[in-house]
Amino acid sequence: MVIEKICCLGAGYVGGPTCSVIALKCPNIKVTVCDKSLERINQWNSDKLPIYEPGLDEVVKQCRGRNLFFSTDIEASILEADLIFISVNTPTKTIGNGKGRAADLKYIEGAARMIADIATSNKIVVEKSTVPVKAAEIIMKILRANTKPGVEYQILSNPEFLAEGTAIVDLVEAERVLIGGEDTPEGQKAVQELCWVYEHWIPAKNILTTNTWSSELSKLAANAFLAQRISSINSLSAVCEATGADVSEVARAVGRDSRIGPKFLEASIGFGGSCFQKDILNLIYLSECLNLPEVAAYWQQVVSLNDYQKTRFTRKVIESLFNTVADKKIAILGFSFKKNTGDTRESPAIYVCKTLLDEGAKLHIYDPKVEHEQIFYELSHPLVTNEPENVRKNIQIHETAYSAVAGAHALVLCTEWDEFKTLDYKKIYEVMMKPAYVFDGRKILDHEALLNMGFHVQTIGKRL
Ligand code: NAD
Ligand code: UGA
Repeated sequence: MVIEKICCLGAGYVGGPTCSVIALKCPNIKVTVCDKSLERINQWNSDKLPIYEPGLDEVVKQCRGRNLFFSTDIEASILEADLIFISVNTPTKTIGNGKGRAADLKYIEGAARMIADIATSNKIVVEKSTVPVKAAEIIMKILRANTKPGVEYQILSNPEFLAEGTAIVDLVEAERVLIGGEDTPEGQKAVQELCWVYEHWIPAKNILTTNTWSSELSKLAANAFLAQRISSINSLSAVCEATGADVSEVARAVGRDSRIGPKFLEASIGFGGSCFQKDILNLIYLSECLNLPEVAAYWQQVVSLNDYQKTRFTRKVIESLFNTVADKKIAILGFSFKKNTGDTRESPAIYVCKTLLDEGAKLHIYDPKVEHEQIFYELSHPLVTNEPENVRKNIQIHETAYSAVAGAHALVLCTEWDEFKTLDYKKIYEVMMKPAYVFDGRKILDHEALLNMGFHVQTIGKRL
């Protein structure tokens, strides 16, 4: 079978950009991205896409209406597709068995049942969402238990490695594409068919094929390794603050060893994002279920250290402000979980803001890309607070950094947006309350210059 039509279930941060790039690079394949949410699909079909991602607008503009379509007509799209990506969300369970750790596979199961209900011809079903090892077996069981006569399914694992903020570059110049399939002639044929799609732009040597379970586990492992590097350097940032060593210098020296490498060693306020914590918790739960408590405890420490880092930073803010922030105006610069995205999922800024609000602070928040309502939502939804009205009263969202800092006792930098590096800090010093405090949670500011202007400055991994 030559793949002529692709359907993607889930028009989120993964489904949208991934399929847009497939459409760009494979002009002869019709790609339809579907979602249950009409609002999301309408946004994909509008001038203001539902996610901010550098380079994405141009790709969508070039392909939309040509061979790229966004639709809520899931039935039509499944019926015509040769290959179906499942890119639905796989959040951590919030209730029941495994609550707080296990992946909630209800959307994966829902997608598999939709395909089983609708499909009337052979399909290659590709698990793109991040899932626990053996999740493909669930999809397989559902599909094969509901197969219509003459319909055959092949299930592949093809995890996604893009990072938000660099998704388009990550997809166009992927270091590796991973495809796992069954070790049967039909399974291997399906693997080759998906390889063919990627070979339109990815060199064959960068396409790795494995068995299904290795592919599923490799995705969890990759995220766990990345997060572990951040927790490792963050643990050392505490040692630096206590001793006078500088964590940036330590990272530079350690990273120069080519066996370790320089990337992903930026000490910070803690990692955020929708996946690191979720995927490690998933690995921990899996290890526990496999009766491997030592393995679970090892990875648990990566998450615990991250919580410690967020707490340590926030405690430093409060203690520096004479151990009371009640009724004090505090400017928060940056709310997304990293620069170049409007995504706030698991952003460390949420923990910082929530703790300061609990202490009675008045927060003045500015982020260049996060929607105002999203900030209110993150700080006032029931899992965060049982006093949503109070939260709204104590938050003000600003259109510029300058208006957020006016009259503030402290400036707390939570996201490393480039524009924060070039603000006029002399002007900011003038309009802030004195003593004026800066807490740089991302180590991006010129601390010497700030100290010379009269600021009290604290950062991560360096005593000033
Ligand atoms: P998301 O929440 O942005 O998007 C998921 C979408 O799926 C939602 O719009 C939802 O409405 C839709 N959906 C759910 N069930 C559906 C169904 N049956 N039919 C059609 N649509 C359905 O999630 P995301 O960030 O794109 O992540 C998706 C998966 O990819 C997750 O497993 C995640 O771990 C993984 N992943 C995410 C990233 C990332 O950077 N966000 C990177 C790599 C992997
Ligand atoms: C991460 C991985 O990098 C992707 O490969 C993966 O596909 C994705 O998760 C996923 O599975 O969802 P993402 O979360 O989008 O991508 O962004 P990262 O660049 O990895 O940053 C994650 C968090 O770690 C951010 O809060 C960032 O600020 C923080 N970070 C990153 C540090 O604190 N220090 C660093 O050195 C690097």
